[in-house]
Amino acid sequence: MTKIVTVELAARSYPIHIGPRLLAQAGELLAPLARGPLPVVTDSHVAEIHLAALLDALGKHGLDARPIVLEPGEATKSFAGLERLTAELLHTGVDRGGLIVAFGGGVIGDLTGFAAGVLKRGIALAQIPTTLLAQVDSSVGGKTAINVPAGKNLVGLFHQPRIVIADTDVLNSLPRRELLAGYAEVAKYGALGDAAFFDWLEANGAKTLAGDGDAIVHAVAHSCQMKAEIVARDERESGDRALLNLGHTFGHALEAATGFSDRLLHGEGVAIGMALAFRLSVKLGLCPGQDAERFVRHLRAVGLPTAIADIPGVRPDPKVLLEHMAHDKKVQDGRLTYILTRSIGQAFVTSDVPAEAVAALLVE
Ligand SMILES: NC(=O)c1ccc[n+]([C@@H]2O[C@H](COP(=O)([O-])OP(=O)(O)OC[C@H]3O[C@@H](n4cnc5c(N)ncnc54)[C@H](O)[C@@H]3O)[C@@H](O)[C@H]2O)c1
Repeated sequence: MTKIVTVELAARSYPIHIGPRLLAQAGELLAPLARGPLPVVTDSHVAEIHLAALLDALGKHGLDARPIVLEPGEATKSFAGLERLTAELLHTGVDRGGLIVAFGGGVIGDLTGFAAGVLKRGIALAQIPTTLLAQVDSSVGGKTAINVPAGKNLVGLFHQPRIVIADTDVLNSLPRRELLAGYAEVAKYGALGDAAFFDWLEANGAKTLAGDGDAIVHAVAHSCQMKAEIVARDERESGDRALLNLGHTFGHALEAATGFSDRLLHGEGVAIGMALAFRLSVKLGLCPGQDAERFVRHLRAVGLPTAIADIPGVRPDPKVLLEHMAHDKKVQDGRLTYILTRSIGQAFVTSDVPAEAVAALLVE
């Protein structure tokens, strides 16, 4: 029941393999792309549980894997992390004709992708995502980045992978909270452009989160298909691709205001951000209130946070949130771009949002 979704980018097109037991096939899938030493970048959580299986699969096809194990957590996605990783990658002797493997969640994928993009002016990349968030979102589409004190993902580049291998079995070891955070990005696809998929999620979300094999493959494959189509239309985010940022402007500000800490995972920030985007759309008379309620109800039903008040600890100051939003990558000509919705499945991009409406929403 493996599915293959293709990201159509002419000569740079690549497949996303989605299904169970795919780690065992990684050697076969990567052998045609790899040459010389094969750095496999991961974090210590993933290494402990899954690295041996991957190395075994690579070894069976004669690949010279060189594991590099980094500290887990968002703090690794930093200049210091990049410096350390590039030094270790150079130490493996990988050259411009080689391949670098990112084996982990979005932190490992974003950092390794960035390092692969700049090392020796660019080395081919394979993504083997191990979180739900990374399988449905961060490993696909070529965005790579690190965080800097001024904000999240503000330094980075586009570097498309040559292949993505999403083994849905590896998600079985993911902590429930991380699985849920990834589910926020799955729900995002329904909210932004596919009402029928949202219907499917309402009916099958609980099953998907309980680890049902067919449901999880469908959810990942459908999400990847949607992302692949959007990326193929607008690789560099000059238009449509911005829709994928639904909930992210608020989400990133919340993450920054909570110090990129365990208080709020990226996907949790996106869940609250999407709920805020729906509420703002209702406030501006763009979206029926019942659609916003239905969307929020589903997120709450699966166990995701949907309000700023759901974040544990001191409530982030609205003024601080607005300051963080002003640094967003989506600010152009001094105006912030928002992703709002007309209903579930009908998101759109606009910069025509009164600042007072946003400020009022954050205080509520
Ligand atoms: N590039 C993009 O397009 C894009 C899109 C969305 C998010 N992101 C980025 O992704 C990052 C978040 O990614 P994430 O949510 O995957 O976080 P993460 O990489 O920090 O992984 C979450 C936690 O799960 C652990 N883990 C990973 N796989 C596991 C497994 N199979 N079993 C057990 N534990 C496992 C990790 O060690 C970590 O502790 C953020 O930095 C965000 O900015 C990037």
